[in-house]
Amino acid sequence: MDIQSILLQRRTVHDYEREPLPDGALDRALRAALAAPNHRMTEPWRFVRVGPRTRERLCEIAVSLKTPPGDAPRLELVEKTRKKMLNPAELLVVSRARAEDPVVEREDYAAIACAIQNLSLSLWAEGVGSKWSTGAVTTAADTYAALEIDATQQEIVGFVWAGIAAKDAPKARRRRELSDVLRQLP
Ligand SMILES: Cc1cc2nc3c(=O)[nH]c(=O)nc-3n(C[C@H](O)[C@H](O)[C@H](O)COP(=O)(O)O)c2cc1C
Repeated sequence: MDIQSILLQRRTVHDYEREPLPDGALDRALRAALAAPNHRMTEPWRFVRVGPRTRERLCEIAVSLKTPPGDAPRLELVEKTRKKMLNPAELLVVSRARAEDPVVEREDYAAIACAIQNLSLSLWAEGVGSKWSTGAVTTAADTYAALEIDATQQEIVGFVWAGIAAKDAPKARRRRELSDVLRQLP
């Protein structure tokens, strides 16, 4: 695939097969992430590749966040959450090393967004789907504990799920026309 096709055809994938990634694909994608542009070369990105036991714990946290205190978790919710969180072959948690200066923090977040996009495009080029998610479970205090991330040192920017799509990736969401967002000045 040429680069323009990769850029235009990439879609967020929501449903995954329980199938591993092609050999080396994750490593190549992470190396692509590290090549992202980064003002001042702060290299603010940190990644955790989350194994099955920790993923089970994250599932419990996700379910508990959606269950009123004192209630037993609904079976349907448990099943849906498990499918969503255990099916994708990989889960990467991406966090940002905190900085003192708010301008640096803002630019570091931008650099991490570039890194995640590099990662996701590298995967897409190899037939692997991914999804950046920022739902409640991604930033819960219990999640920081389960991932052994010290919230005073790092901020979780998102979860990135990756794997083989279970069905055709969703169609492109409607985008604005270029003419709506581009002004040309003489
Ligand atoms: C910062 C960020 C956070 C996102 N969080 C979520 C999320 O929590 N859940 C979700 O389903 N998709 C999430 N997405 C994916 C968007 O919903 C998706 O990119 C958008 O619908 C456009 O679809 P496309 O990626 O297929 O072009 C997130 C994307 C970004 C950039």
